[in-house]
Amino acid sequence: MNIERDAEFFLDKKLNHSRSIFSPSFIKIHSKCVKEMALKLAFLRVLVNHKVIKVASWLHDIGRVENDENHKIIGVDIAEEWFKSINFKKKRFIKKVNDCILYHGREDIPKTKEGKIIRIADKLSFIHPQMLEYAQQKNGISEVKEYIKTAQDIDRLSLRAKILRWVYIKRAKTKYHTNDT
Ligand SMILES: [Fe+2]
Repeated sequence: MNIERDAEFFLDKKLNHSRSIFSPSFIKIHSKCVKEMALKLAFLRVLVNHKVIKVASWLHDIGRVENDENHKIIGVDIAEEWFKSINFKKKRFIKKVNDCILYHGREDIPKTKEGKIIRIADKLSFIHPQMLEYAQQKNGISEVKEYIKTAQDIDRLSLRAKILRWVYIKRAKTKYHTNDT
């Protein structure tokens, strides 16, 4: 069983019938960028479960396929159903994934290390080159500027997250000439 790959397939399947105001392609790219940013934040951290990080990245916004407003609570229900359906029974793992899903919002305070990483990665994902590329193709440079602002507008960052944010924003500003943001 490759739980990370299965989680990605499960998200793909759910996105085929999405009711979110965000397009399936947006949610997919966003989730992928969350995963990449989260893995950078978790790099070499032995006390962080990297598998949880990968699975939670794919599942953190899955509740949006049913309802954007309550997507965190709905997401936990969908994830638990899914774990049951694939006969996955590792309780600690599931609990951590649930923490990531439930507390990834701006005002939330996750209880686990993995949850804290996903919450920050969710915001930093907006300055991932792939996300900025997507935004530029869809809505142009003003969307890119908005994304940079979103990533800037977050507190309680670890030093590693601050450095990551600084590097990516610098790169984005150079690429898109958006020094005015
Ligand atoms: Fe998200």
